[in-house]
Amino acid sequence: MSQIVNHLGDHRVNLQVNLQVNLRIKRGAPGDALRFETHDVPFEPGQSVLDALRWVRAHVDPSLAIRYSCINANACKECMMRVDGKTVYACLAKLEAREMVIEPLPNKPLVRDLVTEVAPSDEELFVSSKV
Ligand code: FES
Repeated sequence: MSQIVNHLGDHRVNLQVNLQVNLRIKRGAPGDALRFETHDVPFEPGQSVLDALRWVRAHVDPSLAIRYSCINANACKECMMRVDGKTVYACLAKLEAREMVIEPLPNKPLVRDLVTEVAPSDEELFVSSKV
């Protein structure tokens, strides 16, 4: 909920505005027919896309697969996904009070829903150096 304070003469007017985000989330696993599910999420200024996805898991559907470890420290690099066609870290992508399309990375093997195989490049180098 956002609060708008307006001053009209000597009268202070508080308006409570319930803003929402309409998340269109691509879901499914390898071999499934992938589908979009839509969820309305309460909007709070300053929230991230990851905050909204965590809200969906907590309040609507705990089976939604997402991956993250640090929430908003930009340290784990595990929350990478596509938001409105752009590759982002979900914990850094700002939530906006409109429709937002959330998809898994298209160039990585899909695990389920928004989770893809994203091994850090130094781990990939370690694995390939042992071959
Ligand atoms: S959750 Fe760790 S970088 Fe986004």
